[in-house]
This record gives sequence, C-alpha cells and structure tokens, in this order.
Amino acid sequence: TVYIETYGCQMNVADTEMITGSLLARGYGRVERPEQADVILVNTCAIRENAETKVFARLRELAVHKRTRPSVRLGVTGCMAQHLRDSLRTQAPQVDLLVGPDGYRYLPELLDAEDGALHTALRLDPNETYADVPVARDPGVRAWVTIMRGCDRFCTFCIVPYVRGRERSLPLAALVDEVRRLADAGTKEVVFLGQTVNAYRDGTADFADLLRATQAIDGIDRIRFTSPHPTDMSARVIDAMADCPKVMPQLHLPVQSASDAVLDRMARDYTVAQYERLVDRLRQRIPGIAFSTDIIVGFPGETAADFAATYALIERVRYATAFLFKYSSREGTRAAKWDDDVPDAEKGARLERLIALQERISGEVNRAEVGTDVAVLVEGPARRPEGWVTGKSPQFKRVMCPGPAVAGSTVRVRIEAATSHTLSGRLA
Ligand code: SAH
Ligand code: SF4
Ligand code: F3S
Repeated sequence: TVYIETYGCQMNVADTEMITGSLLARGYGRVERPEQADVILVNTCAIRENAETKVFARLRELAVHKRTRPSVRLGVTGCMAQHLRDSLRTQAPQVDLLVGPDGYRYLPELLDAEDGALHTALRLDPNETYADVPVARDPGVRAWVTIMRGCDRFCTFCIVPYVRGRERSLPLAALVDEVRRLADAGTKEVVFLGQTVNAYRDGTADFADLLRATQAIDGIDRIRFTSPHPTDMSARVIDAMADCPKVMPQLHLPVQSASDAVLDRMARDYTVAQYERLVDRLRQRIPGIAFSTDIIVGFPGETAADFAATYALIERVRYATAFLFKYSSREGTRAAKWDDDVPDAEKGARLERLIALQERISGEVNRAEVGTDVAVLVEGPARRPEGWVTGKSPQFKRVMCPGPAVAGSTVRVRIEAATSHTLSGRLA
C-alpha cells in the first residue's frame, strides 16, 4: 500500500496522480493515511524556502512510522528531492528514496530493492514525458492534463528549470486520445498544465492546434490552461482562444513585477507596456475575460518606486485574484548571487499592502456580478449549507447555490451575494 502527500503546484498534483497510476499498475493499493501504508511518499516543492522547511518538519513526523513499523519505506519525490539531494541525505537520514521529477519511471524498481540502502533516481532526462504511464485521477468533473514538462526560460529568481529540466511536450495525438478517454469517462472540463503551457510544441503542432483539437472533442464542455508565459501568448494562441467557445474566458497571466528595471533583472522578456497591451488585446478579443496573476515583492534591488509601480498595475488591471509572494533566494539561480537587499520586514510590509489591495479589488470585481446570471459547471454538494451545491463560473470563480443540480451539469445561477472569494445565488 502507498500513501502520498503532495506539496507545490498543480503540476505536482498531476505528477502525484501519475506516480499513483504507475504504482497501482504494479499492484499497489492506495491508502488515505500514513498509518496504513507500506510506502510513504512526500511529493515536494522547491519554489520558496518555506516550502522546503515545511517538508523537513513533516519528514520528522512521518519517520515515526518507520520506528513503529521498520519495514515502512519513506520516499521524497519531486522538485525538492532534486534541489536538496545533499541536505536531505544528511538532515533526513530516515529517508529511503530520493526521486526527482524525471525519475518516477524507476520508482517501482527502487521500491523492490529491500537492502535498506538509500536509493535515488535524480538524473534529469530531456526526453522523459511519461506519455505511456497511466494516470490515476480522482474522479470528478475536472481533469488536469500535463501537456509539457520542464522550462527553458530561466527567470533569474526561479528554481524550476534546474529541478525540472529542459522543456519538452507530449505528442498532440496522445493528448487528444487522453482527453477523448476522459470525456468518455464523464470529464467535462480539462485544464492543460505546463510551466510555460502556451509554449507547447510537439514538433508539428503548437498550443493553438491543441486548443482547436480539444474544442472538437464531444463531451468536453470547458477548456482551461495554466500557466501561460506572456511572451508566448502569440497571435495564433489568442485567435484560437477567441475562436473556441469551450476555452473559458479566464487567464492566469503571471506579471511578477510592474517595474521594467525589475522585469529586466528577472529576465522575464517583456516590458510593463507590452504586458498591458497583451491584457488589452485579450480583453478586446475575449469579452468578460478574468485575469489572475503571480507577483513577487522584494526582489533584489526592488525600490519603493518599483513597488509603487506594481501596486499601480494591480489597480489598473483589476485582477480577479492574485498570488502574492515574498522573494525567496534559491540557491543555484542567478539572482541568488545578488544581494537579497530588501529587508524581510519591508518585504512583509509590501506584501501586506498588496494583499489588502487585492482583497478589495476581488470583492469589487465579484460584487459587480450580483444581479447577473452565470453558467456554473456543478462539481457536487457544497460542504455547507446542507443541500447546496458548488461549482465554477466561466471565469473560474467559485459559485454556491441551493440545489438540486447534478455534478457535471451546467446550470444558470442568478448571483445574489459576493465576497472576495465566492459568489452565491439561486438557480435561475
Ligand atoms: N511557470 C510559471 C510559474 C511557476 S512558479 C510562470 O512562469 O509564471 C509560481 C510562482 O511562484 C511564480 O510565478 C512566482 O511568482 C513565484 N516564485 C517563483 N520563484 C520564486 C522565488 N524565488 N521567490 C518567491 N516567489 C517565487
Ligand atoms: Fe520559473 Fe520563469 Fe520558467 Fe515560470 S517561466 S517556471 S517563473 S523560469
Ligand atoms: Fe514547486 Fe516544482 Fe511546482 S518547485 S511550484 S512543485 S514545479
């Protein structure tokens, strides 16, 4: 039996489903609690220091199971296994397995070895796409489908290219087959995943081709993707988004900063003006499109004026939501060689100001929907109140309403109330 705990981004959640699929195919059973497991895996993230600190603490807790049941195997998989292989060896000696993002194929074999030694699979393989590995998804109306792995952009703050290796895409035909199978099994919405998802190219087809091919699959009602890079948002991709009614009017478009000087040092490859022109063009072509973003505060050399520019951009774009982070220096990246000169207290203060601003804007953007009817893809019963259902609007906002409504159906909901995070109403 295997128990897997997942940290980090949606790509890691999808990798956990793939790891689970490969182990189920070898006869393992999945369990929901570490007490029940012969194999305990922690699928980890390396994006910020606190992600790694959390895992070290968790490994100490999980090691208890090895003390009470010595046959238990404890493994660390994912980005942190790749990034901190050496400190994991010394600081987490209870760990039996270290498997990086390109080593999951070897996991069953490594688990078969019972010599008590530390086993590792940490070689990055630019050809590994896992296209042939079965994915064990939790059943639901939405399926996350990895279409490309790795990243070639090397933004100066980011560890991802070092831990996930070079960019590579899965073949279009394999993806179309998989989405068809998902549709046959009842999936209504697919979310394509990749670190620069819109850079997808399999040698023949590009991301626009993938969107159009998916549009043609019966049974799929909604298509989303994350995260696109602003520079890869080509005219072909925008045309495909505008032409395909199943592609939802919602886009996560990470900006990181709204200072050209900072963007240049981050090697993001666009200016603030180019980013805003892109937002305007998307708003013209895709009416009602909702944007979300990622922002880092306190990047090396970020001045009060740089920060003020970022604050002002949020006010102009009016994102539906934003993921806001304090800069965390990552060993191995280019920015790690620079002076991390914004004091932590100042980073915290800047972060708090952005959080407060975004909370206000999210509330305003959501309250503007009160009185309108929105099409909600129903996911299932809400945790509370009793009898209510929950789902997502086209803009990917959570909507709740009293039922009855079946999971997988799309219903019209008249919005009556809104918070910064949720819309609620009743069936129209
Ligand atoms: N591939 C995506 C994002 C991947 S990581 C993209 O290109 O946008 C998700 C987010 O984490 C990033 O957008 C960035 O805002 C944040 N992040 C990455 N490295 C970071 C670091 N060293 N410190 C703080 N935040 C970071
Ligand atoms: Fe990291 Fe930049 Fe690649 Fe995104 S595009 S994963 S931020 S290097
Ligand atoms: Fe973290 Fe790896 Fe994702 S570093 S954000 S789990 S790609």
